Amino acid sequence: MTQYGVDLFLVLVLASLGLSALAIFVTFSRNRRQHARGSPPPGDDVASEAARKVLREFEKNGQSVDAALVSWSPETLRKILAEDLPDAQVIVVSNREPYIHNETEDGDVELVVPASGLVSALEPITRACAGTWIAYGGGTADRTVVDRNDRVQVPPGHPSYTLRRVWLSDEEYQGYYLGFANEGLWPLCHIAFTRPIFRESDWEAYEAVNRKFAETVVAEARNERPIVLVQDYHFALLPRMIRERLPEAIVITFWHIPWPNSEVFSICPWRERILDGLLGSSIVGFHTQFHANNFTESVDRFMESRIERADAAISYGGQVTLVHAYPISIEWPVELLQSLPSVEECRARVRRRFKIPAGAKLCVGVERLDYTKGILDRFHALEELFIRHPELVGKVVFLQIAAPSRGTLPAYKQLYEECLRYAEELNERYGSESYRPVLMVAEHHSQASVYEIYRAADICMVTSLHDGMNLVAKEFVASRDDEQGVLLLSTFAGASRELLEALIVNPYDAAMMSEAMLQALTMGSDEQHERMRRMREIVRDNNVYRWAGSMLLDAARLRKRGDLDRVTASYDRANGPAGDNVVSMFERKQAVGFR
Ligand code: F6P
Repeated sequence: MTQYGVDLFLVLVLASLGLSALAIFVTFSRNRRQHARGSPPPGDDVASEAARKVLREFEKNGQSVDAALVSWSPETLRKILAEDLPDAQVIVVSNREPYIHNETEDGDVELVVPASGLVSALEPITRACAGTWIAYGGGTADRTVVDRNDRVQVPPGHPSYTLRRVWLSDEEYQGYYLGFANEGLWPLCHIAFTRPIFRESDWEAYEAVNRKFAETVVAEARNERPIVLVQDYHFALLPRMIRERLPEAIVITFWHIPWPNSEVFSICPWRERILDGLLGSSIVGFHTQFHANNFTESVDRFMESRIERADAAISYGGQVTLVHAYPISIEWPVELLQSLPSVEECRARVRRRFKIPAGAKLCVGVERLDYTKGILDRFHALEELFIRHPELVGKVVFLQIAAPSRGTLPAYKQLYEECLRYAEELNERYGSESYRPVLMVAEHHSQASVYEIYRAADICMVTSLHDGMNLVAKEFVASRDDEQGVLLLSTFAGASRELLEALIVNPYDAAMMSEAMLQALTMGSDEQHERMRRMREIVRDNNVYRWAGSMLLDAARLRKRGDLDRVTASYDRANGPAGDNVVSMFERKQAVGFR
């Protein structure tokens, strides 16, 4: 070939590669745009099927799986369960139940959905898997609605899974929940400068309650191989207890709060027992890689174990535990948004209800009343804003919705009093008869009414001092189908790793926060739209089904590996160790009739 021929050939090859890349890019961007607009694009199911095939190819070649290739929905979860984990029973265990039955003053039974990120994430998953959810029955009418096996079908009206309630005595609740979990582990794991309190009697209650839940898991398991999704810091000992009773179960433990560095963790007098308990899991999940690394470091420091960093695995006591980051999310609220009034109507209603003067911008904060959430720091930033920009007095109202939480504990009582005092101080200093700059509403709100408030807000402030993820940030973004509104987000919340278009703030820096508030208050509609649009795309794509699906795919892989290991062991028992004779896995499978 002449030089000219070679050049022409190269030009043609490059041009065709370029065209293919362009075609892939155009298709990908179109899909993303269609996703961003709302309902899934036509043929989405086909697309997700194709994506699953790509995913399997990755797996076959031993490459890492990119969960981003899949369009995640309840259907995707059901398919994973049916194809990759056939006949597996899904059991969820959490302290907080998804539905609480309470007795009203006039003797009726009312249903409450608790203010809990964990509940809002797990509920759609359990519905999709038609699983069993085991939780503490804390409602005053909980006992009256269960059957003789302490079960009740939920959600009410459209039952799709079983809620199995576990009863705790006052002493158990005090020691396990209020004491060890919330005065010990909670402050230990959050950098909020509240000293953890560890009492031996709390530890004993914690252990006893974990055992009670383990017995309930065994009682609810229909066979030896359920998939148990253990939730949060209330159940650090439960994975090991389940493993002892159901060795073939897949136990996926998700730690919804941060994990501290190993030096801080060493404060806990029962640190080895906690780690041993968690290492009974097949998988331990965290919201961020940072917290997963902290956990691995703690194991490395305190346990006789082998850390396989390349595989994100820990080998301990003859068992392997994967330690991964799975960022939690929300279900994209299609139906909820359809049921809500327009943004204009929500604005009008909320402003009427809270008597917000016309012309004043509305900042909101929504969460459990907890010292990790940085509520006082928000008030501080508002004060700083008024000091630096007195012209804004009268033009901003801060509405704080705080669901009462763990209210009998001294740290929470003190926080509540300080919030009330500070709000009153600001109202006296900057308010008037017709204007109160801070509205502190310490009441539980339903999901619909919280969404109405999000939709009415000009600014949402999520200023946690430390937070595993924070789903309020994601809910606010999801609620704004008008693509307006500004999110101020703490750099210490896991959500700040994903929602990069938020105004990222340091809650300890009141001056910086007040400047971010000013930026939000004066941000033009085009910029709000651009930031909100991108964040909505991320939350819609990385939804809660992806969170659960990624864990279930990892669980399926573990189960297959475990089954193959059993095949090898069984062949070797029958034929003696293979030694130098190389026996393929295929031959071993044939020999023991494994399918
Ligand atoms: O934020 C951690 C967390 O466990 C959430 O997962 C859950 O929403 C909340 O705390 C639990 O709060 P409570 O003690 O009121 O159940």
